[in-house]
Amino acid sequence: MTDEIIPVASSFSGSDMSAERYKARYARSIEEPEAFWREELGRLDWIRRPEKISDVSFNKDDFRIRWFEDGILNVSVNCIDRHLETRANKPALIWEGDHPAHHHSITYRQLHDHVCRFANVLKMLGVKKGDRVTLYMPMIPQAVFAMLACTRIGAVHSVVFGGFSPEALSGRINDCQSEFVITADQGVRGGKAIPLKDNVDEALKSAPGVKRVLCVKHTGANVHWEEGRDYWYHDLSIQVDAHCAPEPMGAEDPLFILYTSGSTGKPKGVLHTTGGYLLWATMTHALTFDAKEDDIFWCTADIGWVTGHSYIVYGPLANGATSLMFEGVPTWPDASRFWQVIEKHKVSVFYTAPTAIRALMRLGDDPVTKHDRSSLRLLGTVGEPINPEAWRWYHKTVGNGHCPIVDTWWQTETGGHLITPLPGAHGLKPGSASFPMFGVQPALVDNDGKRLSDSGAAQGNLVLLGSWPGQMRTVYGDDQRFFDTYFSTYPGYYFTGDGARRDEDGYWWITGRVDDVLNVSGHRLGTAEIESALVLHPDVAEAAVVGYPHDIKGQGVWCYVTLNEGVEASEALEKALKDQVRKEIGPVASPDVIQFTPGLPKTRSGKIMRRILRKIAENELSSLGDTSTLADPGVVESLIEGRVKAG
Ligand code: WT7
Repeated sequence: MTDEIIPVASSFSGSDMSAERYKARYARSIEEPEAFWREELGRLDWIRRPEKISDVSFNKDDFRIRWFEDGILNVSVNCIDRHLETRANKPALIWEGDHPAHHHSITYRQLHDHVCRFANVLKMLGVKKGDRVTLYMPMIPQAVFAMLACTRIGAVHSVVFGGFSPEALSGRINDCQSEFVITADQGVRGGKAIPLKDNVDEALKSAPGVKRVLCVKHTGANVHWEEGRDYWYHDLSIQVDAHCAPEPMGAEDPLFILYTSGSTGKPKGVLHTTGGYLLWATMTHALTFDAKEDDIFWCTADIGWVTGHSYIVYGPLANGATSLMFEGVPTWPDASRFWQVIEKHKVSVFYTAPTAIRALMRLGDDPVTKHDRSSLRLLGTVGEPINPEAWRWYHKTVGNGHCPIVDTWWQTETGGHLITPLPGAHGLKPGSASFPMFGVQPALVDNDGKRLSDSGAAQGNLVLLGSWPGQMRTVYGDDQRFFDTYFSTYPGYYFTGDGARRDEDGYWWITGRVDDVLNVSGHRLGTAEIESALVLHPDVAEAAVVGYPHDIKGQGVWCYVTLNEGVEASEALEKALKDQVRKEIGPVASPDVIQFTPGLPKTRSGKIMRRILRKIAENELSSLGDTSTLADPGVVESLIEGRVKAG
């Protein structure tokens, strides 16, 4: 790591932020939070502006997180209607299809009509305020219409990433007892069709609660149809009109559920609420990206992840921005696709993941430099730590050395950015997420929960003191799990699951997860979920999964597997196990390495010592640490021998 500082670019003097202004605003947000948040409320249109700012306790006995409790608003009005007076003909969305010849834009006026129609169709199907609606969609504008339509009528959306398997989809549908699914016939990525409707049909075999499936025609492929359950969107949308009165919602009413992996058990339904989440997405989009009226803002995430929710849909649209939505992949038809799209649509702010940057960096500078990127003024990254080498390439080659990079640290749980540089305010250190957003108080604790000093350099587990409006409110249907996961490890604090260090200049550096959560190509995976998928195979006795450093993906998935008595390891079995994980979770969770082993390292009480497994996968054989507490110390040797064969 490096502590060199790249100064605030002089070409960035157009920013509204400066070092002094950041300091003053940050201090106000911490010292006078009531006054600060009352000022920030003006970013949204309220039907009733809240009097109460926050009511928060992280203590077990009186645990609660509430923001703007008596406020009333509607999210779709904030993202659409309020812009109609001044921005009716401004593009709200630019859609770039998988095929470079497919693209069009949708103005705020058109967005209003589409969303109202979509909302009326949902009503026609029986969707009511508070109902959970599952979306399993490709990256097409109708996905955004569907999300906003839910918010218009007060339904709670649960978007499931289109790359997840039917098994993963049905699990998420059942967990939130969703009776409605919105999908498309197919998606397309990199020239290949993705059978979304087929996957829904498969999922619904084990999700009997679903009453209605609304299907958007995208590729026109033939799909299986269940009369009485399945409806084409284009059949219904011509039967409704383009006006739909927005439902007034309480600030603390649920807005959406988004499933994410934790260190144990099945994925958690992260619940975000209406007022706090929207204000957080809106404020962070405006500040971190120094949003300007004429920006073309492109976030390359999928709407199946929180990044897509906050920075393709809610933040940009609430700010009246033009948000670009891309259906394809960075390397199709060739490795210059991102830069070609930037040139074509004159993108000014570009936000992507380190894994994509690393993959493209490998392919050389030519694909980048042959396209005109002079429209770019700001770059961003999200999802995992960015290595300084990739940071520099992004800065120099992609940004021609003149675009600041905002390395934004946050989580599904946090709704939006918590630690990030603000362009115009902070000099940049490659690889550092830099400074806390207004209202955010990061702190470090050691493994015993002792607070480390708030000044000077320190390293430890990253916690947050107090709440911020965009904080998740609960795990859907499981308040206890919410408390246990985030507030019991270090009582009184929100525990992020990440490790971090703060350097002597006060810059924050995220060092990665300290729990059993993997970050593979920016996708979050629980080791327990992958292990459960592996042990479903009849030949598997036991499995333990760990992450290891991977050049492109950040982390790779390493699986230690013990087989039942009498079963021989084979290549066929290895393939079967990889397929099993893809089937249960999806291709994103595909194991990189399967290491068959006669045993796993366990303590005498039977607990698997993952630390040792991680070290072996990382090939850090000299630092295995104390192995004397193992029930069978000999197992380590056979693991090391087995590693040679597997890796
Ligand atoms: C985890 C959250 C936040 C949206 C995308 C991922 C890691 C995220 C950074 C960053 C270092 C990062 C953390 C975090 N992470 N951004 N800029 N630098 N690490 O959301 O799937 O909820 O994953 O991603 O480990 O805890 P998520």
